[in-house]
This record gives sequence, C-alpha cells and structure tokens, in this order.
Amino acid sequence: MGKMWSGRFSKNASSLLDQFNASLNFDKKLYRYDIMGSLAHASMLKAQGILSEEEYRQIEKGLQEVLREIESGDFSFDISDEDIHMAIEKRLTQIIGEAGKKLHTARSRNDQVALDFRLYVQAHNEIIRELLLKVIATLSETAENHTETMLPGMTHLQHAQPINFGYHLMAYASMLKRDYERFDSSFERNNLSPIGCAALAGTPHPVDRRMTAEELGFDAPTLNCLDTVSDRDFALEMLFNIATMMMHISRLAEELILWSSSEFGFVTLSDAYSTGSSIMPQKKNPDVPELLRGKTGRTYGNLIALLTVMKGLPLAYNKDMQEDKEGTFDSVETAEISLTILNEVIATMTVNKERMEQACKVGHLSATDLADYLVEKCGIPFREAHFITGRAVALAEQKGVDLSELGAHDLQNIDGRIGEDVTGYLSIRHSMNARNSEGGTSTARTKEQIASIRRWLGEKVKD
Ligand code: ARG
Repeated sequence: MGKMWSGRFSKNASSLLDQFNASLNFDKKLYRYDIMGSLAHASMLKAQGILSEEEYRQIEKGLQEVLREIESGDFSFDISDEDIHMAIEKRLTQIIGEAGKKLHTARSRNDQVALDFRLYVQAHNEIIRELLLKVIATLSETAENHTETMLPGMTHLQHAQPINFGYHLMAYASMLKRDYERFDSSFERNNLSPIGCAALAGTPHPVDRRMTAEELGFDAPTLNCLDTVSDRDFALEMLFNIATMMMHISRLAEELILWSSSEFGFVTLSDAYSTGSSIMPQKKNPDVPELLRGKTGRTYGNLIALLTVMKGLPLAYNKDMQEDKEGTFDSVETAEISLTILNEVIATMTVNKERMEQACKVGHLSATDLADYLVEKCGIPFREAHFITGRAVALAEQKGVDLSELGAHDLQNIDGRIGEDVTGYLSIRHSMNARNSEGGTSTARTKEQIASIRRWLGEKVKD
C-alpha cells in the first residue's frame, strides 16, 4: 500500500528514505498514549456531531483491537508506515474500514505527536516522583539509625569537622526533595492539552478542546496552537530535571564508591549489589554506584542534544523535532532504573560505625572547638586563638596523636589561660553536638531535619 500522504506523489518512496525518515522503531513506545489520545479525540468528534454514533462505536472497538494486538505481540510493525501514528491509523482502517478514515478529522500528526509525547512525559514524571519519595524515605530511615554515628565531615576531601552519618544522608535527602519539587512544578506547568491544534493554525471544525483536555487528565487546553505544535519545553524540563537529579545521585554514588574502598571502609555494599572480577578472586567492586555516576553523563548529553535541535527551528513543526524522542526515552529509563537500584543499594548497605568513628581521630577535627573555647572561656580574640590552636595542633603532630588526645597539661604549657575543663571541649562528640545551630549537625538538629522530611513525606503520600 502507498503512503497515506501519497496523493500528490508520482513515484514511490525509496526504502532508503524509509530507513532515514521513519521513527516507528522508537516511537512505538508511544502506542498507548496514541490510542488514548485517539479515543478522546474520537469521542469529542462524536459529541460535536462530526462522527456518527456508529462510526464512533466502530473506531472505539477498532482501537481497542489495535491495542490488544500491540500488547500481545500480534501487531506487525512496518517501517514504511513511518511512525506509530500512521501505523495505528492504517491498522484501524484495515480492521474497521471506512470509519477509520474519519478519525484524523480536525487533527494533524503535529498536534497528535505533541499530545502523545506530552502524555508520556507527564506519566513518567509521576513515576519518577514516586521513586524519588521511596529513596528519600530510605535515606531518612537510615539516617534515623545513625544520628550518633560520627564521621569526618570534609572539605577539599580533607577532614574538616565531625558530623554524624544521619546528617550526611539528610543532605542527600534534601537535594532529592528539591528534585521532587522541580518535577512537581514542571508537571503542573505543562499539564495542558495540545490536541485540537491541528497542523499549526487550529481547525475550521467545531472541536471542543476543553472536552479532550478534561478526558485526558489535563487542566486545560494550551493557549496558542502555533506555539503548541512547535514547543518541546515540557521534554526539555524533564531532561533538565533528570540531569540535575542524576547529578545529585552521582555525587552520592561517588561517596559510596569512596566509602566502600579499603581506605575508608565506612560502608560495605551488599553482595547482591556488588560484582566480582574475572581474574582477581578477592575483588568486590562497586559497579552499581559507578554506573550511576557514569550514566549521569548520558542524561546531560540528552539535554544538550535536544536544546541544540530546538535552537534554530522556525515555527512551527520541523522534522528535526522527531529527534526529541530517543534521548528523552533514554533519560527517563535511565532515571527510573537508577532510582530503583539506588534505593536498594542504600537499604541493604552495612554502615561500619567503628571505622567512621576511628577516622574521626585523624586530622584534629576539634581544632575549631579549641579556638572557640579560647574565645568563649578565656576571652582571647579569635585571631590569637587561631594561632594558639595552631601551636596545639603542631604539638599533637609532634607527639603523633590527635588533638583530642592531648591532656589539659600539654595545652596549658602552650597557653597558661587554658583551664582543666578544656578536654571536654576537645572530644569529637562534643565538637559534633556543639554545632547545634538550626540546620546544623548536632544529633538533636539532625533529628529535627529527619522529622521535617518525614512530615513532608507524609503529606506527599496523603496527596
Ligand atoms: N514522527 C513524527 C515526529 O515524531 C510525527 C510528526 C510528523 N509530522 C509531520 N508534519 N511530518 O515528529
């Protein structure tokens, strides 16, 4: 059979054209949304008197049959149909005859593809948000068990100040909460229906765009048809939201890789989520976090690719826009499996509390506390306190101990104004709990943060 658009052509399309031009191999993923959209469109055409009851009934039944064929694997995809929209319409007409040819009234593939793709993006936005909630809940649960487990907080990857592990995990929970909110706001902004815009200028048929919008779960129709068929911002937002979320996941993955190394030994990843080496029998490798870190790159690539596709396009539809799909599908699939496996990795890892606390005895983590003690208890100006503390650190280094292990006597030799009570200030736990300002690392403040995220999670689950 010739192409649906073959009326004005006198030669058949070359098979090379089919290979180059067709999107069917990848846009078949949209079949469900295409059928949903067609059902809503047909029902509106009926309500407007454009289709008879009988025609609508046949179209509805035929589309259900096409759906069944696709889902059971009976549907034969033929690349010369070009894309999923024409493949479905052709099959519908084969099944029901004449009525099938009326389905495309008041519609163009331009608003059809904009609709299908938007429905896909909106549906996966919801799936990704659900998965994000699970990871945030798992982080919060793990954090709850470790609000007293101390580890060195770092800057420049050097020991800086003691923090607790729960606090560290809640930093990631906070990032992922922002990611959730970003997906949420994109969903709200883009929940508008493109169908009924036709090719670019609207249609002379008396379509009811409000009806199709409502039927498909949108808040309203889009405002301007020319914009609607030219717009891929909804996909770009999805790609940006995924790229940013993956950047956060990648930073956590990087820390998991470091923490599970022999040098750190802070966590042990479950055997179920680790791999071995083909030559070194002793090896246990953190492939999952490495892949989370690695896959982040492709999500950036997909974002930049689509931004680049769109940047020079005159209004309205241009075939360049067919390039919007593969990268978006790839990012969405990457995001969903990444969140799913990350959740498992966190839920099943062992936290090696002793190793973390041992590490706190390296690097004089309580140096800032000694300086603060000198300011508060001895009335010494901060600059001078900084210098005295530096001397104390030098003494500890010379003795081969951590600052927290020096006795009051050693410190009094450096500065006579130092009291016996100083040792309490140098303990690592004291140092952690002293950072009790709002949002700080003390156990009490960390618990507050966990409670706050838990409340938020509770509200989201209710919604
Ligand atoms: N396969 C096309 C795409 O994904 C569908 C829209 C085609 N529209 C057109 N006017 N050629 O972009």
